[in-house]
Amino acid sequence: MSKLIILDHPLIKNKISMLRNKNTGNKEFRELVDEIATLICYEATRDVPLTNVNIETPLGKTVAQVTEKKFGIVPILRAGIGMTNGILRFIPNAKVGHIGLYRDPETLKPVEYYCKLPVDSKDREIFLTDPMLATGGTASAAIKFLKDRGVKDIKLLCLLSTPKGVAKVNKEHPDVDIYTAEHDKGLNDHGYIIPGLGDAGDRLFGTK
Ligand code: URA
Repeated sequence: MSKLIILDHPLIKNKISMLRNKNTGNKEFRELVDEIATLICYEATRDVPLTNVNIETPLGKTVAQVTEKKFGIVPILRAGIGMTNGILRFIPNAKVGHIGLYRDPETLKPVEYYCKLPVDSKDREIFLTDPMLATGGTASAAIKFLKDRGVKDIKLLCLLSTPKGVAKVNKEHPDVDIYTAEHDKGLNDHGYIIPGLGDAGDRLFGTK
């Protein structure tokens, strides 16, 4: 069963409130998404294993701890891109892939139109990013596409989630934990999160 980790921190709530505000402009919106992504990444890496190493400080010998774990970041195009740099700030050696999906208007099934992943994705923990976990259809399909390519270790990082989105990912991918800044109550008839923050891609890139 997936874990749903909701970041419960007053400063993150403060930043999310600014994101939700319709008067927040594109530049500030982008900066906030970037900052919140770093903070979500901080939480999503809490379980990283450490190994002991002997080192010498200027004052003597000690045993310190390092991690050898390798990470990948895979934003779902296009809004997921907004979270990439914030994660890279915390894990600068992570490799970045991209995955693009659209919904076939007839079958309503997600179709992959772009996928370029780090060659050694199978050996990395992959942070799949999408700011809005709405119905869960896109995220769940993206997880399947990653698994089809041999990726085993996946976490889903988002800013806002809904009960429906979480339930869908949980049902189809119980091995994938979900990290979210806040959990909203639902969706409107067009699949937008309520109260949400509007269209994350348009607000990030200024396309509306
Ligand atoms: N995608 C968005 O950008 N916003 C929503 O509310 C739902 C999906």
